[in-house]
Amino acid sequence: MSSDSIRGRADNRRTENERGGSVNRSVRESAGNDSSNERDETGTHSGPLGEAAEPLLRVKDLVKYYPTERKGFLGAQRGAIKAVDGVSFDLHRGETLGLVGETGCGKSTIARTLMRLEEPTSGAAYFKGRDLFTLSKASVQALRREIQMVFQDPFASLNPRMEVGQIVAEPWVVHPGIVPKEEQRGRVSALLERVGLLATDANRYPHEFSGGQRQRIGIARALALQPDLIICDEPVSALDVSVQAQVINLLAELQAELGLSYIFIAHDLAVVRQISNRVAVMHLGRIVEVGGEDEIYARPTHPYTQALLSAAPAPNPVGRKERKRIVLEGELPSPVNPPSGCTFRTRCWKAESICSQDRPQLIDRFDHGHPSACHFAELQILPAAGMA
Ligand SMILES: Nc1ncnc2c1ncn2[C@@H]1O[C@H](COP(=O)(O)OP(=O)(O)OP(=O)(O)O)[C@@H](O)[C@H]1O
Ligand code: SF4
Ligand SMILES: [Mg+2]
Repeated sequence: MSSDSIRGRADNRRTENERGGSVNRSVRESAGNDSSNERDETGTHSGPLGEAAEPLLRVKDLVKYYPTERKGFLGAQRGAIKAVDGVSFDLHRGETLGLVGETGCGKSTIARTLMRLEEPTSGAAYFKGRDLFTLSKASVQALRREIQMVFQDPFASLNPRMEVGQIVAEPWVVHPGIVPKEEQRGRVSALLERVGLLATDANRYPHEFSGGQRQRIGIARALALQPDLIICDEPVSALDVSVQAQVINLLAELQAELGLSYIFIAHDLAVVRQISNRVAVMHLGRIVEVGGEDEIYARPTHPYTQALLSAAPAPNPVGRKERKRIVLEGELPSPVNPPSGCTFRTRCWKAESICSQDRPQLIDRFDHGHPSACHFAELQILPAAGMA
C-alpha cells in the first residue's frame, strides 16, 4: 500500500475490502523509530524523537487484584485474581508502546486503571507529572480530555440510537466550553473527513457502517478533545486483516500529524509490530520483556517472547523456511494462584529449580540488549524480517 493510499479524506474513502496491504511503515518511522533512541539501564528510553524529556506517562509498580471469595467445607476462602502484578513502563510524547500477551494477562486492566475506570490496588502513574491515582473525581473528568480510549468492538462502543455527528460531538457536551455550539457542526465534518469518512456521514447511524468505518468513527470521537494520549485496546482485533492495515495506517498518520502518543494493546505480535516503537510482552500480569520493535522481533531474549514469535506467521519465505515452532505445553496458569517465582515456569522448557524460587527481575542482561525477566535470558537472533 502506498503512503498516500489512506489519507483520511472524503474523496479517498473506501470500503473495507477494497484494498488491503501492509502498513505504511514510513509513517511510523517518521514519528520516530526506537532503535535510534537513547536507552537507560532499565530499558526506559528518551522520546522517539531522541529528546531526553520527562516521559508523558510513567507507570510505577502498578498492581490490580480483584478480590475473590469461594465457599467450601472450611467456610469462605478469600483470594485474589492477580490481574496486574507490578507493571512499570514509560511512554514518551509521540511514541507508541505496544502491549502484547495472551488473553487474560492483564492488558485491558492496565488500560482501565490508567483511565481511572477501575481503582488500582497499588502503584502510581504519573501523567505529565501528575499522579493519576490520587486525582479527585473532578480532576479525573478533566483528565479524560487528555487521555482517550479506542475500544475493540466499535459497534458496542457507539450508541446505536445516536447519529454519528452526535457521537463525535458528545465529548464537547461532557466537556462544555471547548468548542462553541456554532462551530461544532463544522468541526464534526472536519473530524469525519480526517478519518476517511464523509461529512454527510454525520447524519447516519452506526449500524449503517462497516466494522472498519465504525472504528474510524470511534477514532474521530477520541480526537474530538485533542488528547495527548490514546489508549487503543485491541482496536483492530475484530476487523479483517486488510481493514486492520487501513485503520493502523490512519492511527500512524494521525500520530505523525498531531504528535499523539499511543498505548496499543493487542494479543497479536504481528499487529502490534505495525505501529509500535517499543513493545512490552506481558505474561500473567507482568511485563516479561520490553524493547524496541527491532529488538523484540529480531533479538528476543525471553523464552515466552520466543515462543510467541515462533507461532506468528513469518512474512517472507526465508523466515518460513527457518521457522522452528515452539509449542508451549500445559495450561496457561491461573492468575488466582500463579506459580511461584517465574510465572512462566510451568510451560518453560528451560526452567530450573531457581525459577520456582526467585521471581526474575525485569532487567537488561545484555550490553546491547533490552530488559527481560528470565534467569536464563538468551539472545535469539532472528532473520532481519523477524517473526521466524
Ligand atoms: N472486573 C473484574 N473482576 C474480576 N476479575 C477480572 C475483572 N476484570 C478482569 N478480570 C480478570 O483479570 C485478568 C486480566 O483480565 P484483562 O481483561 O485485563 O486481560 P486481557 O489481557 O485484556 O485479556 P484479553 O486479551 O482477553 O482482552 C483475567 O483473569 C480476568 O478474568
Ligand atoms: S526464569 Fe526460568 S522459567 Fe522463567 S522464563 Fe526464564 S528459564 Fe523459563
Ligand atoms: Mg483485553
